[in-house]
Amino acid sequence: MQAFRRTILSLPINSRGLATAVATPRLKKFQIYRWNPETPEVKPHMQEYAVDLNDCGPMMLDAILKIKNEQDSTLTLRRSCREGICGSCAMNINGTNTLACLCRINTDTAQVTKVYPLPHMFVIKDLVPDLTQFYKQYKSIKPYLQRAHYPADGKETLQTVEDRKKLDGLYECILCACCSTSCPSYWWNQSEYLGPAILMQTYRWLADSRDHATEERQKALQNTMSLYRCHTIMNCTRTCPKGLNPGLAIARIKKGMSF
Ligand code: SF4
Ligand code: SF4
Ligand code: FES
Repeated sequence: MQAFRRTILSLPINSRGLATAVATPRLKKFQIYRWNPETPEVKPHMQEYAVDLNDCGPMMLDAILKIKNEQDSTLTLRRSCREGICGSCAMNINGTNTLACLCRINTDTAQVTKVYPLPHMFVIKDLVPDLTQFYKQYKSIKPYLQRAHYPADGKETLQTVEDRKKLDGLYECILCACCSTSCPSYWWNQSEYLGPAILMQTYRWLADSRDHATEERQKALQNTMSLYRCHTIMNCTRTCPKGLNPGLAIARIKKGMSF
Protein backbone atom coordinates (compact mmCIF):
# COMPACT_ATOMS: atom_id res chain seq x y z
CA MET A 1 0.00 0.00 0.00
CA GLN A 2 2.85 2.33 0.97
CA ALA A 3 4.62 1.56 -2.29
CA PHE A 4 1.42 2.08 -4.31
CA ARG A 5 0.80 5.52 -2.69
CA ARG A 6 4.38 6.54 -3.45
CA THR A 7 3.89 5.53 -7.08
CA ILE A 8 0.71 7.61 -7.39
CA LEU A 9 2.41 10.66 -5.87
CA SER A 10 5.26 10.48 -8.33
CA LEU A 11 3.07 10.18 -11.45
CA PRO A 12 2.78 13.27 -13.68
CA ILE A 13 -0.42 15.30 -13.49
CA ASN A 14 -2.30 16.09 -16.71
CA SER A 15 -4.17 19.32 -17.58
CA ARG A 16 -7.32 18.04 -15.78
CA GLY A 17 -5.38 17.52 -12.53
CA LEU A 18 -5.40 13.72 -12.81
CA ALA A 19 -2.41 11.45 -12.34
CA THR A 20 -1.38 9.84 -15.60
CA ALA A 21 0.82 6.91 -16.48
CA VAL A 22 4.11 7.90 -18.11
CA ALA A 23 3.68 7.42 -21.84
CA THR A 24 6.06 8.01 -24.66
CA PRO A 25 5.21 11.46 -26.10
CA ARG A 26 3.33 11.31 -29.39
CA LEU A 27 4.56 14.52 -30.95
CA LYS A 28 2.38 15.69 -33.81
CA LYS A 29 3.50 18.55 -36.04
CA PHE A 30 1.10 21.29 -37.15
CA GLN A 31 1.98 23.97 -39.70
CA ILE A 32 -0.25 27.01 -39.33
CA TYR A 33 -0.64 30.02 -41.61
CA ARG A 34 0.59 33.23 -39.99
CA TRP A 35 0.14 36.82 -41.08
CA ASN A 36 0.05 39.92 -38.94
CA PRO A 37 -1.16 43.25 -40.41
CA GLU A 38 0.93 45.08 -37.78
CA THR A 39 4.15 43.73 -39.33
CA PRO A 40 3.41 44.03 -43.07
CA GLU A 41 7.10 43.62 -43.91
CA VAL A 42 6.87 39.97 -42.77
CA LYS A 43 5.28 37.97 -45.56
CA PRO A 44 2.58 35.37 -44.86
CA HIS A 45 4.29 32.13 -43.86
CA MET A 46 3.66 28.75 -42.24
CA GLN A 47 4.80 28.30 -38.64
CA GLU A 48 5.42 24.84 -37.22
CA TYR A 49 4.36 23.68 -33.75
CA ALA A 50 4.56 20.27 -32.09
CA VAL A 51 1.88 18.99 -29.71
CA ASP A 52 1.97 15.85 -27.57
CA LEU A 53 -1.22 14.03 -28.52
CA ASN A 54 -1.16 12.19 -25.15
CA ASP A 55 -2.04 15.48 -23.49
CA CYS A 56 -4.44 16.97 -26.03
CA GLY A 57 -8.14 16.59 -26.86
CA PRO A 58 -9.09 14.74 -30.04
CA MET A 59 -10.19 17.68 -32.18
CA MET A 60 -8.22 20.17 -34.27
CA LEU A 61 -9.62 23.02 -32.17
CA ASP A 62 -8.16 21.33 -29.06
CA ALA A 63 -4.72 21.27 -30.67
CA ILE A 64 -4.85 24.85 -31.94
CA LEU A 65 -6.05 26.18 -28.58
CA LYS A 66 -3.36 24.17 -26.80
CA ILE A 67 -0.76 25.80 -29.04
CA LYS A 68 -2.25 29.24 -28.36
CA ASN A 69 -2.48 28.67 -24.59
CA GLU A 70 0.87 27.01 -24.03
CA GLN A 71 3.22 27.94 -26.86
CA ASP A 72 2.20 31.08 -28.74
CA SER A 73 -0.49 33.44 -27.48
CA THR A 74 -0.17 35.58 -30.64
CA LEU A 75 -1.79 32.87 -32.77
CA THR A 76 -5.18 34.32 -33.76
CA LEU A 77 -8.38 32.44 -34.58
CA ARG A 78 -12.13 32.66 -34.07
CA ARG A 79 -14.02 30.15 -31.98
CA SER A 80 -16.84 30.14 -29.50
CA CYS A 81 -19.08 27.11 -28.96
CA ARG A 82 -16.62 24.25 -29.66
CA GLU A 83 -19.53 22.05 -30.75
CA GLY A 84 -20.35 22.91 -34.35
CA ILE A 85 -23.06 25.46 -33.59
CA CYS A 86 -21.59 28.96 -33.92
CA GLY A 87 -19.69 28.42 -37.19
CA SER A 88 -16.84 30.70 -36.16
CA CYS A 89 -13.96 28.16 -36.20
CA ALA A 90 -14.28 27.53 -39.97
CA MET A 91 -10.84 27.10 -41.56
CA ASN A 92 -9.01 25.03 -44.16
CA ILE A 93 -7.45 21.91 -42.64
CA ASN A 94 -5.31 19.74 -44.89
CA GLY A 95 -7.03 21.15 -47.97
CA THR A 96 -10.64 20.89 -46.76
CA ASN A 97 -12.81 23.70 -45.47
CA THR A 98 -14.29 22.54 -42.19
CA LEU A 99 -15.00 23.43 -38.57
CA ALA A 100 -11.92 22.92 -36.38
CA CYS A 101 -14.11 21.80 -33.48
CA LEU A 102 -15.72 18.99 -35.52
CA CYS A 103 -12.51 17.89 -37.26
CA ARG A 104 -10.57 15.04 -35.63
CA ILE A 105 -6.79 15.33 -35.47
CA ASN A 106 -5.08 12.96 -37.90
CA THR A 107 -3.14 10.96 -35.28
CA ASP A 108 -0.48 9.75 -37.72
CA THR A 109 2.54 11.56 -36.24
CA ALA A 110 4.54 10.95 -39.42
CA GLN A 111 2.23 13.36 -41.26
CA VAL A 112 2.22 17.13 -40.78
CA THR A 113 -1.24 18.74 -40.58
CA LYS A 114 -1.52 22.06 -42.41
CA VAL A 115 -3.98 24.74 -41.36
CA TYR A 116 -4.94 27.80 -43.43
CA PRO A 117 -7.70 30.41 -43.18
CA LEU A 118 -10.75 29.89 -45.45
CA PRO A 119 -9.46 30.24 -49.03
CA HIS A 120 -9.90 33.19 -51.40
CA MET A 121 -10.90 35.61 -48.65
CA PHE A 122 -9.04 38.66 -47.40
CA VAL A 123 -7.25 37.78 -44.16
CA ILE A 124 -7.57 39.99 -41.09
CA LYS A 125 -4.91 38.07 -39.13
CA ASP A 126 -3.62 34.46 -39.11
CA LEU A 127 -6.71 32.19 -39.34
CA VAL A 128 -9.29 34.99 -39.28
CA PRO A 129 -10.89 35.75 -42.66
CA ASP A 130 -12.70 38.99 -43.46
CA LEU A 131 -16.39 38.04 -43.76
CA THR A 132 -17.67 41.60 -44.37
CA GLN A 133 -18.77 40.88 -47.96
CA PHE A 134 -20.31 37.55 -46.92
CA TYR A 135 -22.48 39.23 -44.28
CA LYS A 136 -23.36 42.10 -46.65
CA GLN A 137 -24.64 39.50 -49.09
CA TYR A 138 -26.59 37.79 -46.32
CA LYS A 139 -28.23 41.10 -45.38
CA SER A 140 -29.08 41.74 -49.05
CA ILE A 141 -31.42 38.74 -49.26
CA LYS A 142 -33.59 40.06 -46.41
CA PRO A 143 -33.23 36.91 -44.29
CA TYR A 144 -36.42 37.30 -42.30
CA LEU A 145 -40.13 36.57 -42.64
CA GLN A 146 -41.92 39.03 -44.94
CA ARG A 147 -45.71 39.03 -44.93
CA ALA A 148 -48.40 41.24 -46.44
CA HIS A 149 -50.60 40.70 -43.39
CA TYR A 150 -50.44 39.00 -40.00
CA PRO A 151 -53.07 36.92 -38.12
CA ALA A 152 -55.89 39.16 -36.88
CA ASP A 153 -55.66 37.67 -33.37
CA GLY A 154 -52.09 38.94 -33.08
CA LYS A 155 -50.78 35.42 -32.46
CA GLU A 156 -48.08 33.53 -34.33
CA THR A 157 -48.32 32.68 -38.04
CA LEU A 158 -48.97 28.95 -38.19
CA GLN A 159 -47.87 26.41 -40.77
CA THR A 160 -48.71 22.74 -41.32
CA VAL A 161 -46.41 19.94 -40.21
CA GLU A 162 -45.76 19.14 -43.90
CA ASP A 163 -44.81 22.75 -44.70
CA ARG A 164 -42.53 22.88 -41.67
CA LYS A 165 -40.76 19.75 -42.92
CA LYS A 166 -39.78 21.60 -46.10
CA LEU A 167 -37.38 23.68 -43.99
CA ASP A 168 -35.45 20.65 -42.73
CA GLY A 169 -31.93 20.62 -44.17
CA LEU A 170 -32.10 24.40 -44.61
CA TYR A 171 -32.63 25.97 -41.19
CA GLU A 172 -29.66 24.04 -39.72
CA CYS A 173 -27.14 26.12 -41.72
CA ILE A 174 -24.82 27.95 -39.32
CA LEU A 175 -23.41 30.35 -41.94
CA CYS A 176 -19.85 29.11 -41.43
CA ALA A 177 -18.96 29.99 -45.07
CA CYS A 178 -17.12 26.68 -45.65
CA CYS A 179 -19.26 26.03 -48.74
CA SER A 180 -19.02 29.49 -50.31
CA THR A 181 -15.24 29.59 -49.90
CA SER A 182 -14.89 26.18 -51.57
CA CYS A 183 -16.89 27.28 -54.63
CA PRO A 184 -14.76 28.27 -57.67
CA SER A 185 -17.55 30.52 -58.98
CA TYR A 186 -17.56 32.37 -55.65
CA TRP A 187 -13.76 32.69 -55.69
CA TRP A 188 -13.84 34.52 -59.03
CA ASN A 189 -17.13 36.47 -58.78
CA GLN A 190 -17.48 37.21 -55.10
CA SER A 191 -18.59 40.80 -55.58
CA GLU A 192 -21.70 39.77 -57.54
CA TYR A 193 -22.36 36.03 -57.15
CA LEU A 194 -24.13 35.29 -53.86
CA GLY A 195 -22.49 31.87 -53.38
CA PRO A 196 -23.97 28.65 -51.98
CA ALA A 197 -24.40 29.64 -48.32
CA ILE A 198 -26.39 32.79 -49.06
CA LEU A 199 -28.35 31.10 -51.85
CA MET A 200 -29.32 28.30 -49.50
CA GLN A 201 -30.57 30.91 -47.04
CA THR A 202 -32.51 32.52 -49.89
CA TYR A 203 -34.13 29.16 -50.61
CA ARG A 204 -34.86 28.73 -46.89
CA TRP A 205 -37.23 31.75 -47.20
CA LEU A 206 -38.54 30.80 -50.65
CA ALA A 207 -39.50 27.39 -49.22
CA ASP A 208 -41.25 28.87 -46.19
CA SER A 209 -45.05 28.68 -46.58
CA ARG A 210 -45.46 31.69 -44.26
CA ASP A 211 -43.39 34.07 -46.40
CA HIS A 212 -45.16 36.35 -48.91
CA ALA A 213 -42.11 37.81 -50.70
CA THR A 214 -41.47 34.98 -53.19
CA GLU A 215 -41.86 37.21 -56.26
CA GLU A 216 -39.57 39.90 -54.87
CA ARG A 217 -36.96 37.33 -53.79
CA GLN A 218 -36.97 35.66 -57.22
CA LYS A 219 -36.80 39.02 -59.01
CA ALA A 220 -33.62 39.90 -57.08
CA LEU A 221 -31.98 36.74 -58.48
CA GLN A 222 -33.12 37.36 -62.07
CA ASN A 223 -29.77 38.50 -63.50
CA THR A 224 -26.69 36.74 -64.84
CA MET A 225 -24.59 36.94 -61.66
CA SER A 226 -26.47 36.53 -58.34
CA LEU A 227 -27.66 32.95 -58.95
CA TYR A 228 -26.68 31.72 -62.41
CA ARG A 229 -22.91 31.75 -61.74
CA CYS A 230 -23.52 28.37 -60.08
CA HIS A 231 -22.33 25.70 -62.50
CA THR A 232 -23.33 22.73 -60.31
CA ILE A 233 -19.72 21.76 -59.52
CA MET A 234 -21.00 20.65 -56.06
CA ASN A 235 -17.83 21.50 -54.05
CA CYS A 236 -20.23 23.23 -51.68
CA THR A 237 -22.21 20.13 -50.79
CA ARG A 238 -19.08 18.00 -50.52
CA THR A 239 -17.49 20.32 -47.97
CA CYS A 240 -20.42 21.30 -45.70
CA PRO A 241 -19.40 20.21 -42.17
CA LYS A 242 -23.09 20.06 -41.16
CA GLY A 243 -23.92 17.57 -43.93
CA LEU A 244 -26.27 20.00 -45.72
CA ASN A 245 -26.82 20.25 -49.46
CA PRO A 246 -26.57 23.84 -50.73
CA GLY A 247 -26.11 22.55 -54.30
CA LEU A 248 -29.58 21.00 -54.17
CA ALA A 249 -31.11 24.17 -52.71
CA ILE A 250 -29.64 26.17 -55.61
CA ALA A 251 -31.02 23.66 -58.12
CA ARG A 252 -34.47 24.06 -56.51
CA ILE A 253 -34.29 27.85 -56.76
CA LYS A 254 -33.43 27.55 -60.47
CA LYS A 255 -36.28 25.07 -60.99
CA GLY A 256 -38.74 27.36 -59.20
CA MET A 257 -37.68 30.29 -61.38
CA SER A 258 -37.97 28.38 -64.64
CA PHE A 259 -41.76 28.09 -64.29
S1 SF4 B 1 -22.76 23.73 -56.98
FE1 SF4 B 1 -22.76 25.89 -57.47
S2 SF4 B 1 -22.52 26.87 -55.53
FE2 SF4 B 1 -21.91 24.74 -55.22
S3 SF4 B 1 -19.69 24.74 -55.55
FE3 SF4 B 1 -20.66 24.34 -57.45
S4 SF4 B 1 -20.83 26.31 -58.50
FE4 SF4 B 1 -20.49 26.68 -56.33
S1 SF4 C 1 -24.47 25.22 -45.97
FE1 SF4 C 1 -23.05 24.14 -44.60
S2 SF4 C 1 -21.02 24.88 -45.24
FE2 SF4 C 1 -22.50 26.30 -46.05
S3 SF4 C 1 -22.61 27.93 -44.57
FE3 SF4 C 1 -24.27 26.47 -44.11
S4 SF4 C 1 -23.40 25.08 -42.61
FE4 SF4 C 1 -21.68 26.17 -43.52
S1 FES D 1 -16.31 26.76 -32.26
FE1 FES D 1 -18.41 27.02 -32.85
S2 FES D 1 -18.55 25.86 -34.66
FE2 FES D 1 -16.53 25.46 -33.98
